[in-house]
Amino acid sequence: MCGIVGYVGHRPALDVVLAGLRRLEYRGYDSAGVALPHSGGLAVERKAGALVNLEQRLDEIGRDTFTGTAGIGHTRWATHGPPTDRNAHPHRSGPADAGKTAVVHNGIIENYLPLRAELEALDIWAESDTDTEIAAHLVALAYAGRAADPSTKGDLPASVRSVALRLEGAFTLVVTHADEPDTIVAARRSSPLVLGLGEGETFLASDVAAFIEFTRNAVELGQDQVVTITRDGYDVTDFRGEPVAVSPFEVTWDLAAAEKGGHDYFMLKEIEEQPTAIADTLRGHLVDGRIVLDEQRLTDQDLRDVDKVFVVACGTAYHSGLLAKYAIEHWTRLPVEIEVASEFRYRDPVLDRSTLVVAISQSGETADTLEALRHAKDQKARVLAICNTNGAQIPRESDAVIYTHAGPEIGVAATKTFTAQVAANYLVGLALAQARGTKYPDEVVREFHELEAAPKAVETVLESLGEARALGQLLADSKAVLFLGRHVGYPVALEGALKLKELAYMHAEAFAAGELKHGPIALIEPGLPVIVVMPSPKGRAVLHSKLLSNIQEIKARGARTVVLAEAGDETVKPFADHLFELPPISTLLQPLVATVPLQVIAAEIARARGYDVDKPRNLAKSVTVE
Ligand code: G6P
Repeated sequence: MCGIVGYVGHRPALDVVLAGLRRLEYRGYDSAGVALPHSGGLAVERKAGALVNLEQRLDEIGRDTFTGTAGIGHTRWATHGPPTDRNAHPHRSGPADAGKTAVVHNGIIENYLPLRAELEALDIWAESDTDTEIAAHLVALAYAGRAADPSTKGDLPASVRSVALRLEGAFTLVVTHADEPDTIVAARRSSPLVLGLGEGETFLASDVAAFIEFTRNAVELGQDQVVTITRDGYDVTDFRGEPVAVSPFEVTWDLAAAEKGGHDYFMLKEIEEQPTAIADTLRGHLVDGRIVLDEQRLTDQDLRDVDKVFVVACGTAYHSGLLAKYAIEHWTRLPVEIEVASEFRYRDPVLDRSTLVVAISQSGETADTLEALRHAKDQKARVLAICNTNGAQIPRESDAVIYTHAGPEIGVAATKTFTAQVAANYLVGLALAQARGTKYPDEVVREFHELEAAPKAVETVLESLGEARALGQLLADSKAVLFLGRHVGYPVALEGALKLKELAYMHAEAFAAGELKHGPIALIEPGLPVIVVMPSPKGRAVLHSKLLSNIQEIKARGARTVVLAEAGDETVKPFADHLFELPPISTLLQPLVATVPLQVIAAEIARARGYDVDKPRNLAKSVTVE
């Protein structure tokens, strides 16, 4: 989810690139860097931390070598390797071509380990921990005519195409070469890249926000395409070099809206980014038919020795953890306890070296979760972190890590990191099932592929967001809203209620639907909205019929029922005042689709009430006090 800028034109490129990076800082702020062709070589500078650190560094060293009119730049959201100067982009080739090639990258190159080994066999050694650097070396080799096919020699677009064909995963790669100071070449697969077309200047960026102060004429690059830009224009081909027709469009958004992908709020953009967040979180975790974690300082034997799992987290991360319990117990037959991190360590939980504690945290800095983790480690338990922030404290202190590659989340209320956490939790479940042999290898692979198909289902839900917004409008004047669910629908209900509290400052409560008759039903009064998350009638028929009875009970008492049900579920229709249809999906994956309309309803109610959706009152994105 990094920010990328490229420029060839008539202005000082450093100014254009830095201005673009400033607009893209919301995409990543772990480190920043630039590379500009200069006197037959490259001027490169990169710095960990926010963009301002890079600018200060450029002031210190002087900007004399950064005077050209072409260049590339990057703001990073770390995936492979901690956020340090050394891992900051651009990455450049080594002694093989005197560092004449520099590359910035957004995405994840899944097969970078075998490619790195291939480079090492040629005595080319990576200087950083990143997956990106190998691309710089590979392009350098291709351009120097030292790749398997020497025909790419001296041809930068052909060199980039040949490398793109070898990469697996998601990438936008932007390449500058000292011998081609007026040309920049970029390749795109499953990561965004847009062209900006000016008078005698051409721009490349992760999104239009980076260049709309200079031009509003843009071209969206398609999947598996390579573009070559010069100050006079551009040329687009597929990865095999066949020309591709593209259609320019005019950007009508203002600058503020452009950063938010045309929305009023980052949160709405982040809701739409969920298919990508889930897909990126899963990417690279199935290697040769086996589930692999991002960082594993535990052996398979350690995982086999686990006899109990604790999940600890706060807020939204805690709700995702509730879902981990369903998956891990079902797949591994291990007992799983889940607890809010702030309670965990104060009640003397029973832990030992065969306990696995899964600590889930978007920020990786939440004090409650960190202290729970430390308490677990003091008791000799093993800790596995699920985190969205590479290099944060929680993953640093853990024995194993899975990163949710959701990119930075600007909206304080978590959305895309929730669904990405659910995906990561399921990876933990599958990794445990694999190590412990409670599922056959082919079953693990099948579950993984099913998980991989979930982003498509989330896209289907996103297509009907208009309906969810309309529901939000209808509910905006309510005094309170109740949420009901059973099984995996219960954590979804809890998350829906939390979003409504956080954003719309509305009284919202979620209940396990079976508990309704044990008290909460007294709250039902005529007109009270109750949002019900229905299971699939096919997936969990028993639960479905139980929940159907619960809806009838509340309907009989005058509640206004808003029902989320599988498309084609006719049985709920007579009892639903409002119906939102969900695409059919397996039981454990339903939360990935059912949470999305609830996020939108909460945001819409907040908007209708005139509240700032991105910055709800009293809340902080990362809470570093207990
Ligand atoms: C804060 C945020 C919540 C978040 C919780 C846990 O309360 O406002 O949105 O869910 O912290 O944060 P973490 O970074 O640990 O996931």
